[in-house]
Amino acid sequence: MKDIIIAGNWKMYKNLSETIDFFTSLDTKIKETQFKRIKTVVCVPSILLETAQKYKSNSFIGAQNIYQKEEGAYTGEISAGMLKSFNIDYCIIGHSERRQYFSETDATVREKYLLLKKYEIKPIICIGETLEQRENAETLAVIDRQLSGIFADIALTADDYISIAYEPVWAIVTGKTATPEMAQEVHAYIRKWLTDRYGIEIASNIPILYGGSVKPNNIKELLNQEDIDGGLIGGASLNPQDFWDMINTAREIYE
Ligand code: PGA
Repeated sequence: MKDIIIAGNWKMYKNLSETIDFFTSLDTKIKETQFKRIKTVVCVPSILLETAQKYKSNSFIGAQNIYQKEEGAYTGEISAGMLKSFNIDYCIIGHSERRQYFSETDATVREKYLLLKKYEIKPIICIGETLEQRENAETLAVIDRQLSGIFADIALTADDYISIAYEPVWAIVTGKTATPEMAQEVHAYIRKWLTDRYGIEIASNIPILYGGSVKPNNIKELLNQEDIDGGLIGGASLNPQDFWDMINTAREIYE
């Protein structure tokens, strides 16, 4: 049965002591919890990965990005191999903020995916349309283009672990969430795309997360949609109580 993923994306928030406080607080809530299907993941800035690994109890730690080369003279970047050496389990790639501010493309996301695969780190691959693209009724074409670019010549087998996060760019940080129906429409399209390409067995095992202003008060209706298998949560994941509330909503639905 496919995983349900509740992932926090801290972006460029929290310092060292705030990180320890977060995990200490989450720990008191999450420590004794047995999860069957749900994976809780906290994606922290790379400088905080080691601390997060040390203080986490029952969650997995993820990075927010890697560079698309194995190693080399790329000042300021980190590699998939480095993440592996810290036993990091997940990594976000292709986030729209990386695409917008750091000129990432589907081709670089593809290269990053291949490195994560090599080092057996689970990717959370982000895709999604801008407001202008949605208003021009291009959403599904954009999704198709992004998936085709990232998975260009890539064959997936049942042993390859991936998850996809659909994050409409206009919903990120803006407080505007896609309605559950809008999200479900795109999630169903992604599932169909994966099914056409890789077959139903593989496609039905791939968690497809929704991201974009997910909050404790709207996560339930989103998770109740057939093809929504979790959330990638920015702002609302910074508060341990809110994060825990959202995990609990997922537990009510899935465990
Ligand atoms: P948000 O961010 O929940 O703050 O909108 C989501 C994301 O960027 O992953």
